[in-house]
Amino acid sequence: MRAVVYEDVRTVGVHDVPDATIERDSDAVVRVTSSALCGSDLHMYDGRTGATPGLVPGHEPLGVVEQVGRAVETVTPGMRVVLPTHLYCGTCHMCARGLSAACLRARRDGPGAAYGYAGMGPYRGAQAQLLRVPWADANCIRLPGEPGDAFEDDFVLLADAFVTGWHATVLADVRAGDTVAVFGAGAVGLLAAYSALLQGAREVYCIDDIGVRLDMAGNLGATPVDFRLGDPVEQIREHRNLTGLPLGEAKLGGVDKVIDAVGFQAHDRARPGRERPDQVISDAARLVNPAGTVGVAGVYPLRDLDPGPGATPDGNLTVPWGAFFGKGATVRFGRTHDRRYTTPLRDLITSGRARPGVVVTHHGTLDDAPELYRQFDRRDDGVVKAVLHP
Ligand SMILES: NC(=O)c1ccc[n+]([C@@H]2O[C@H](COP(=O)([O-])OP(=O)(O)OC[C@H]3O[C@@H](n4cnc5c(N)ncnc54)[C@H](O)[C@@H]3O)[C@@H](O)[C@H]2O)c1
Ligand SMILES: [Zn+2]
Ligand SMILES: [Zn+2]
Repeated sequence: MRAVVYEDVRTVGVHDVPDATIERDSDAVVRVTSSALCGSDLHMYDGRTGATPGLVPGHEPLGVVEQVGRAVETVTPGMRVVLPTHLYCGTCHMCARGLSAACLRARRDGPGAAYGYAGMGPYRGAQAQLLRVPWADANCIRLPGEPGDAFEDDFVLLADAFVTGWHATVLADVRAGDTVAVFGAGAVGLLAAYSALLQGAREVYCIDDIGVRLDMAGNLGATPVDFRLGDPVEQIREHRNLTGLPLGEAKLGGVDKVIDAVGFQAHDRARPGRERPDQVISDAARLVNPAGTVGVAGVYPLRDLDPGPGATPDGNLTVPWGAFFGKGATVRFGRTHDRRYTTPLRDLITSGRARPGVVVTHHGTLDDAPELYRQFDRRDDGVVKAVLHP
């Protein structure tokens, strides 16, 4: 089969690799119809998280079941399915509590695993024609319709970007009537803003420095904040004052809930073109209202091969602890527990209440992957979310 293969820093190729096959009786093999690129793939592509040459990336697959092992009971060939990024056993102590990103059986040396990701287990990625899916009964989430129908772009985002955006609102404890700020207007940030609005947030700001992405945030109903125009915290405070703070909120001026959808490769606002890993967390500490909540969905790795200022190679970061303590703020982190959200979000899509696919900007074949990676990495040509059709 054909697959995207990581070759070296900022280089992927498309090669013939051995077909994905049934390795255990509980596996399925899925023929991939759509497979998205993610900001998480770029952390590897940029040489930051220790990917080794030969790795097949991709953790956002949608497809049709081709083959199932003898022990698979509920999944049959021909089913259209989406596969959550963080694969899981479905029965361990954590999976039973819905904490699938912390599955205790999917990875030998730690909780949680993912397809095609350095340090997240031995599972080959989904930017390929075929994908081996372990624990198929748990991981194959059934979908209606046919490959290539009007929901193809919406459904592929159920693998990661939409569930992560939603998970970020859960981490940040977003409730109806809240004011919310989302740092980052990539697919995850945009879909976090969208999820907050779906849940009744009264004002959602979306902060970035890329025009196309800010326009998209505006189209989704958020208020775009361009940090090239100045400190986004001050811009939001001004906007809160301009729109007239509700009675009694004059002392607040920030927002109730903040979401980090950027992660450790955050841009340094003071030095364009440079990274500052603590940029977003320090802005969040200034912006969050007393007793507010910060949800961190952007990735902070255990090891960074080339850490920016304020960070160390073993994942330590300078954090304004005092500001958080003084405000009595809550900060919550983490990978998305996909399984909690995949089915309800699928049903929001099929009922017509949510169309996350609007953030997909580019489509290509596997052969287009090297160029799409280059464009996405430079965040140019308007790429927000690119989807491959193997
Ligand atoms: N928690 C999870 O389970 C999970 C799942 C998927 C992705 N992620 C992570 O979420 C993050 C976003 O993913 P994505 O696909 O949207 O990536 P992306 O790279 O397309 O988007 C990140 C955006 O952040 C913006 N940005 C950079 N510095 C900023 C700053 N200082 N302030 C505001 N915005 C800034 C960039 O311009 C970019 O638009 C990544 O770190 C990714 O690894 C986490
Ligand atoms: Zn992803
Ligand atoms: Zn498990």
